[in-house]
Amino acid sequence: MSKSLVSFPFKEENVEVFVNNIRAAADIPEVGEVLCVGARENECYTQSLEAVKGDPALKDSKVTFLVQERLGSKRPGKGDGMNTALKYFIEETGFKRIHFYDADIKNFSKEWVLESEKAANMGFDVVRHYFPRARTDAMITWMITKTGFSLLYPDTQLPFIEQPLGGELLMERKVAETLIKDPDVLAQSDWGIDTIYTYKMVENGFSMYETYMSSGKDHALYPGLDALESMLYECFSVIYYLQGGTGISHIKHRIEHASGVSNRVENKLGFDIQKTLCLLSEDWNEKQKSLLDLFPPEIGKKMRENTERIVFDFMDDANWYTSYRTLLENFDPGCPDWRKLLFKLWVSRVLWYTTNVALKGYSYSFRHLYRMIDGYARVSKKVETLEDLRNRGE
Ligand code: LAC
Repeated sequence: MSKSLVSFPFKEENVEVFVNNIRAAADIPEVGEVLCVGARENECYTQSLEAVKGDPALKDSKVTFLVQERLGSKRPGKGDGMNTALKYFIEETGFKRIHFYDADIKNFSKEWVLESEKAANMGFDVVRHYFPRARTDAMITWMITKTGFSLLYPDTQLPFIEQPLGGELLMERKVAETLIKDPDVLAQSDWGIDTIYTYKMVENGFSMYETYMSSGKDHALYPGLDALESMLYECFSVIYYLQGGTGISHIKHRIEHASGVSNRVENKLGFDIQKTLCLLSEDWNEKQKSLLDLFPPEIGKKMRENTERIVFDFMDDANWYTSYRTLLENFDPGCPDWRKLLFKLWVSRVLWYTTNVALKGYSYSFRHLYRMIDGYARVSKKVETLEDLRNRGE
């Protein structure tokens, strides 16, 4: 069978947006079935299911609703949803490819599906979408995932995958078969799922094409950085457990050149800074303060000052590199104080970046971020020093 399964993991979405997206996907001749995997049987689940049943435009299409299975061992979340879809694809269908899209994309259209089908037709095993994002969006992507990959795997393509946490991707059947058999993948029921998929795709040597969607993804953005605490912790924990992986192969990897970016994305500054500043001074305890002794003295001292006044002007690229290394060596994923401290270190890093880089403009910000990842790879390979990172011209 040559067709594709399009899958939407979902939780509490705008029903109208979601059903529009189901309709757009079902209308594509290459799509044999649309699979909607709900986190639970909530209002959104029943309303969307009802809307689909009553929609004359969908009467000849196969649209399946499932509640996600409890497959993993971490917090039950998006990972169980995506893995339920992979399992269904392998066990219940004979389709050639599976696509994933977030259910809340307001500007979703058949282009999203067709663009990845074209890239897959060129012979790539995995196709991932990437798109322009606001310069203060993607702060876990840049500061945690890409940074972590650059520190741990500077010789691989991992740090250079544009949006390693992106939820819009296509896999050939053999990729899905490999992933769903992997116990690390199956265990990852939480936000760490995207990181583990990305890592395992590269580890298994699957070729990858990244398509550029210049229209961007119009979807809900977070208000303050506090909304991202669990995602941050779950994404970092995967990187922490991935330390020590060896023999990662060199994959065939093509990134489509980025073309335009809309004014909406270019002019947007992502989050509520006022609300975020307070997060640095809240919820300190003796244990967190003592953990700071493990960091280089100047970083520990400045972080500790946050118990009295807000301080983040020290968390430049070089100090973030050192802080990240210290986290990789000492972090304890089961300890709530380590989790809080990770969060505060990241908040200080995001605030440093926002005030020293993001305020200088859209293009300036991305030049800085890409160079930061290259610089981290060089420092990891010991061809440059932290001083070089500090002295680089812009
Ligand atoms: C990221 C999250 C915030 O990509 O979407 O960093």
